[in-house]
Amino acid sequence: MDIRIEKTTTPKQKPGSDNPLVFGTIFTDHMFEMDYTEGIGWHDARIVPYHKLELEPSSMVFHYGQEMFEGLKAYKTDDGRILLFRPDKNAQRANRSNKRLCIPYIPEGLFVESIKAVVSVDRDWIPTKPGTSLYIRPFVIATDPFLGVRPSHTYKYMVILSPVGAYYESGLDPVKIWIEDEYVRAVKGGIGEAKTGGNYAASLASQVKAHDEGYAQVLWLDGVHRKYIEEVGSMNIFFKINGTVVTPELNGSILPGVTRDSVLELCREWGIPTEEKRISVDEIVEAARTGAMEECFGTGTAAVISPVGELRYEQELMPIGGGQIGPVTQRLYDTITGIQLGRIEGPKGWSVEVK
Ligand code: COI
Repeated sequence: MDIRIEKTTTPKQKPGSDNPLVFGTIFTDHMFEMDYTEGIGWHDARIVPYHKLELEPSSMVFHYGQEMFEGLKAYKTDDGRILLFRPDKNAQRANRSNKRLCIPYIPEGLFVESIKAVVSVDRDWIPTKPGTSLYIRPFVIATDPFLGVRPSHTYKYMVILSPVGAYYESGLDPVKIWIEDEYVRAVKGGIGEAKTGGNYAASLASQVKAHDEGYAQVLWLDGVHRKYIEEVGSMNIFFKINGTVVTPELNGSILPGVTRDSVLELCREWGIPTEEKRISVDEIVEAARTGAMEECFGTGTAAVISPVGELRYEQELMPIGGGQIGPVTQRLYDTITGIQLGRIEGPKGWSVEVK
């Protein structure tokens, strides 16, 4: 599909290099847009100046939340090349979410092409200070002006770009996580493994409660037994227990993270034992009590690799790693960011260049 390009005549001021780039607050000059109409398919692919949307208040996305989003990042290498990290994985996951949400399939080549094209136009917005990158947010919304409940017949797909620093205010300092025992995020058969706004809306009350208690995020337990570890919401969770790196298995209610997959592949390559399995919160409490819990970290596109310095479950406070980032966590952070910045050669196909 041809992509029409209309460049802005009023470019915005780019953030200076001393700007802390608070996550998700600054947007670039352009965006990618294309529409879907039943019977026609995806059409009118275009890059246009970043703009406000004009939508009917009755647009279905506002009422029933039929939407999908993705997240990935672009990086500038020391020699000026632009790299994306495993965008094919985002394209595949986008379509798994689309399928669950009755949103039409987006050809995976077109998904990756839309990202490459808009990143190329706004290449001068990619920040280069350590710990920064250009966050890419592709998303689809249902646009039929209709208040009945059914899948929409029309959609809009967009890609917006945001220069970002660390996701957490604490940067790479270990974060404190609250293990949630009141609310649940998702159940098997629901939409937990789809990347869609509803999952995040479901997390807010709990997140507010945890913030009020001084915790950065919540760690969800499964919705049926309220016993098995799931994910953090903005990241997947890993523990290093007695030398083995363990993470909850993908069970239908956990988001299949691209960074999660990359961590498992790197650990296997390095000969570090890994396990994807059902992990009960009791095992975690026991591992923390006995000292078997050596490290804990979260993984995500926005969060990259985030060390966890304390878990709390009910009244039990579980400090981990003495407030320091653990050696495997640090190695994973250095390797993944090294691959993303083109300083380390990663497995085949992980780095995709934007020309
Ligand atoms: C990402 O890591 O890209 C996400 O979508 C998480 C979001 C909560 C920032």
